[in-house]
Amino acid sequence: MTPELEMIKPSMRTHANFWQNPYSFYEKLRAIAPVYKGTILKQSGWYVTGHEEATIILSDSKFQNRIPLPLTSTKYEVLKNIQHHMLLFQNQTDHRRIRTLVSQAFTLKQVESLRPSIRAIADELLDQLETKKQVDIVSEFSFPLASLVIANILGVPKEDRYQFREWTASLIETIDFTRSRKTLINGGATVIKLMTYFRSLIEKRKNEPKDDLISTFVQGDSLTEEELLATCILLIIAGHETTVNLISNGLYCLMNHPSQLTALRKNPALIESAVEECLRFESPTQLTARIVSKDYQLNGNTMKKGEQVYILLGAVNRDPKIFTKPHLFDITRKPNPHLAFGYGSHFCLGSSLARIEAQVALLTLVERFPELQLVQTDISYRKLFGFRSLVKLPVNITRERLG
Ligand code: HEM
Repeated sequence: MTPELEMIKPSMRTHANFWQNPYSFYEKLRAIAPVYKGTILKQSGWYVTGHEEATIILSDSKFQNRIPLPLTSTKYEVLKNIQHHMLLFQNQTDHRRIRTLVSQAFTLKQVESLRPSIRAIADELLDQLETKKQVDIVSEFSFPLASLVIANILGVPKEDRYQFREWTASLIETIDFTRSRKTLINGGATVIKLMTYFRSLIEKRKNEPKDDLISTFVQGDSLTEEELLATCILLIIAGHETTVNLISNGLYCLMNHPSQLTALRKNPALIESAVEECLRFESPTQLTARIVSKDYQLNGNTMKKGEQVYILLGAVNRDPKIFTKPHLFDITRKPNPHLAFGYGSHFCLGSSLARIEAQVALLTLVERFPELQLVQTDISYRKLFGFRSLVKLPVNITRERLG
């Protein structure tokens, strides 16, 4: 590792600056090499910050997905077993089989038909909040919105969804670099709770099918029991965590860039490109990983079989070779070929849903509350390397409403 990076490395875990703004670190890394070999946050491997290189890696099956836990370790067996059956960590045949089945529920047409019900959920949540002076957007708006939407799709009863906040937060930490032994032990306990919960729900739907995704899954026989459980758990985590972050980060970006917020208010048709820019500028998923399955040549480097590859999506999305003025938040940016949802065979299956949720959530908020104000400026992020996640977003929503 170069002396310059040695200086950056120790500061990353403790220094508030990294968590507030990882982008200057990414930039230094890219300036050394867009595909950099080294050890960052205890993990050694190739760190990819270049857009072109990330696209090549994510679209080549020589780079495989793998569960983010050591395969040889006998610890955390329950956690490992469930992750092993998640389509996110599968490759080739099994991946295609499960993905084909699950993706039928998340086509653009399917999720577009949910737009009015998502708007109704957003309005109902804001009705409850409008008498309050101060609101935490993360816990009082983004989280319940994303939670209600994915719970409805899967068929999780509304009254059960309160448990999912803690459960998803616990599991997301198990796949982050910053995890500790304690995190993994907690994650194992959480997986057991989730498995018990979904086993019981699956039984109910077998006996009495409803118009929901779990009923659709149990009526077919394409998924094994373990795959079915793993899919429910993956969808519930994916449906909660990243979408909450997209909505909250998106609002924070807009509030930090008043001219952009004003432009959106004046022209709500900009919402689609605004959400794309939020995805690029503060990518909810900052990192995805692969393992090299066959020696590979890239940029004059030999990436050896068995080596880890870490694709820093947050960095890739600010690569100046692709994005003019990459650190400028511009809601009219076009084209905007960000990789916030990944690329290739594992491209996010929930991307259309996440986009629609964020479009509806942000537009409803800015339309209904013309006087939104940040309550404090020292907003902090959760200390996660792979996710861009605000701890809280306190805003003032007082003053008169439009209409
Ligand atoms: C802003 C919100 C979201 C972001 C930024 C996001 C990001 C991503 C990324 C980067 C990947 C690719 C991971 C990889 O290549 O290893 C991915 C995969 C996936 N996402 Fe999302 N996601 C979001 C929302 C959702 C939602 C709402 C759902 C579910 C309803 C979902 C379900 C999935 C699934 C199932 C996969 C695995 C696909 C596969 O392996 O074939 N995501 N997501």
